[in-house]
Amino acid sequence: MIVKSAEFVTSAVKAAQYPEARHPEAAFAGRSNVGKSSLINTLVNRKRLVKTSSTPGRTQLINFFSVNDALSLVDLPGYGYAKVPASVRRKWGPMIETYLKGRETLKAVVLILDIRRTPGLEEQNFIDWLELYHRTAILVLTKADKLSKTDRKKRRQAIGAALGVDESTLILFSAKTRLGKSEVWSALERAVLG
Ligand code: GTP
Ligand code: MG
Repeated sequence: MIVKSAEFVTSAVKAAQYPEARHPEAAFAGRSNVGKSSLINTLVNRKRLVKTSSTPGRTQLINFFSVNDALSLVDLPGYGYAKVPASVRRKWGPMIETYLKGRETLKAVVLILDIRRTPGLEEQNFIDWLELYHRTAILVLTKADKLSKTDRKKRRQAIGAALGVDESTLILFSAKTRLGKSEVWSALERAVLG
């Protein structure tokens, strides 16, 4: 994918605030602070189109971005151990669920996992849930730059086994080195524009 333009469209909490569904869409989900926003920035060759932070829970709304006026990328708030007030966190589940269930133009969900962490029930449930709603999942293992090549392979194997998926479907990625950027784009193009 040659990115000619990438722009912020709008933020939303509820369906009435979503932008008009003009283009096929891909959403980015994962635990808080895993690197969702950084991954989107890497894909569109921008440093700060999407706000990133070392503080978990930076992204608190559903943020819509438009690429080449042909495709829409959606940054979701993270789940898990966000250091945000419980009152805010309680609203995220339904907010994300409503979006994932109901958005008619949503073609793929990129689930981003930290390569150093073995996924647990939360991730497994999320994948099962996506299947139930017939959402195509693209699995990305990010922060690969933090490991040696040997350890990356070992971690990919362990994560594949933990999730019960073929490890070859897990894309190794790094926002720091841009490893895997073209693989993520290929998977997105297949799922979203294919
Ligand atoms: P929330 O919006 O809070 O859920 O976080 P997020 O998943 O959007 O993560 P974000 O992209 O803000 O990144 C969180 C932290 O991880 C930042 O300090 C990033 O610089 C760092 N980070 C993200 N991706 C990578 C990566 O591939 N490698 C390394 N080394 N650091 C990364
Ligand atoms: Mg974020």
